[in-house]
Amino acid sequence: MTTKEHISELKKQGNGAIKTLINKQKNSKEIVYILENLGYLPQTFDTEWMPTYLTHKNKDVRLWTVKTLGKIKKEENAELLFNLFEKENTTEVKREIVSSIGRMRLNTSVNGLFDILNDKDPKIVVQAIRALLVFKGEKEVDKKLKHLINHKNEMISSIIYKEYFSKEDINITTQKHSESYEFLRNKVILGDTRDVLREIPDESFHLTFTSPPYYNARDYSIYESYQEYLDFLEEVFSLTYQKTKEGRFLIVNTSPIIIPRISRQHSSKRYPIPFDIHHFLVKMGWEFIDDIIWMKPESSVKNRIGGFMQHRKPLAYKPNSVTEYLMVYRKKTSKLLDWNMKQYDKSIVDESKVNGDYESSNVWQISPKYDKVHSAVFPVELCKRVIMYYSYKGDLVFDPFGGSGTFGRTAKDLERYFFLTEKESKYFEYMKTFLKKDTLFNEKATEFLELSEFIKKRKGSK
Ligand SMILES: C[S@@+](CC[C@H](N)C(=O)[O-])C[C@H]1O[C@@H](n2cnc3c(N)ncnc32)[C@H](O)[C@@H]1O
Repeated sequence: MTTKEHISELKKQGNGAIKTLINKQKNSKEIVYILENLGYLPQTFDTEWMPTYLTHKNKDVRLWTVKTLGKIKKEENAELLFNLFEKENTTEVKREIVSSIGRMRLNTSVNGLFDILNDKDPKIVVQAIRALLVFKGEKEVDKKLKHLINHKNEMISSIIYKEYFSKEDINITTQKHSESYEFLRNKVILGDTRDVLREIPDESFHLTFTSPPYYNARDYSIYESYQEYLDFLEEVFSLTYQKTKEGRFLIVNTSPIIIPRISRQHSSKRYPIPFDIHHFLVKMGWEFIDDIIWMKPESSVKNRIGGFMQHRKPLAYKPNSVTEYLMVYRKKTSKLLDWNMKQYDKSIVDESKVNGDYESSNVWQISPKYDKVHSAVFPVELCKRVIMYYSYKGDLVFDPFGGSGTFGRTAKDLERYFFLTEKESKYFEYMKTFLKKDTLFNEKATEFLELSEFIKKRKGSK
């Protein structure tokens, strides 16, 4: 029987002595015992004998060989482990393989680890995440890891949340449900909405209403692929979820879009955006409440039916699209709407009541609005209804894709506070021009800030 003392004695004798000892063993338990007691190994340690043991019939021998190999940081060792990962059939050894690859902290392992993120075993994925977090801050690594925020395994999504989406220096709110942070009120921030959202406390907004950029249909929306576009929206709405108060609403205005054909030999392609975003919104916790149809006069939309009108041939029927969706979601809570309403003083409830005419069906007939600078602006009437039906006076409402700022101006008109983000400086500057025209969107109360200025202000406000 080999002893610990004997093993450390052999280690001191240099390369080859351990190899000879292991090769002499007939019994798997003995091999495991030696490997288990090797302890620290110098980077010059001879690993040439190990591949045989990586495919040993005894699982524990394989496990301990993997652990031992992981102690020597070498690209060829990582490569051996990646190859073994493909062949190994026990979860325990597979996990250890990923953990050992991680311990080597090799830059060259990053792509291989990306592949492992798709593994079905959440514990293996966690090991890969841990290994990749060593490279946190590298663009590609951050991108891949952030996508896991909506992983179906709760452990994985919460690790990603903690690493990327929660800010320890931001107070998780203890404020009253009806209140909002002063530093968020009536602000327009120039920047990618995701970067801005990461800078604000959880549970800040009472309502979000937005019309996301259309997939590659306009100049401000260029994405490499439809999947990349959907991933982008998923990230935005997941962050919005965190920043929304308990039981409050998100209303997303979208419609299927069409990318025109490039020539008569090709067909155009239609993308069903509302249907493709719905499933991930629900998965991240948004509870589906309603679908409201925004219906426009037929004379105001692009004519697609012209060809059919002439030839009348079945299959080539292309109706004019006069509708868009307003998909209504509520942040998951066990509390009833009554609870939300009871958070307000009676005077606010009374003042916020929707008096007079209101829309009783889910089909809202509203004409679109045309704007000389921005190609896709909300009509004021649409914003008005959303604000009146889904928020109380004094609430903080949010539009991540601010555009020309219609939602913000209307919110202010209706005595709500707003918070807008917009990535394009052209539209950010355009919003400023309303200051002169619109007394309700006046300079005194509305602040236009770049992201860095906003962060400074936020820190100062604490
Ligand atoms: C459909 S328009 C919204 C128009 C707006 N509802 C209005 O009434 O003017 C979408 C806007 O999102 C902006 N945008 C696109 N990606 C963004 C991002 N990552 N962060 C912030 N804004 C973005 C675009 O520049 C564009 O102005």
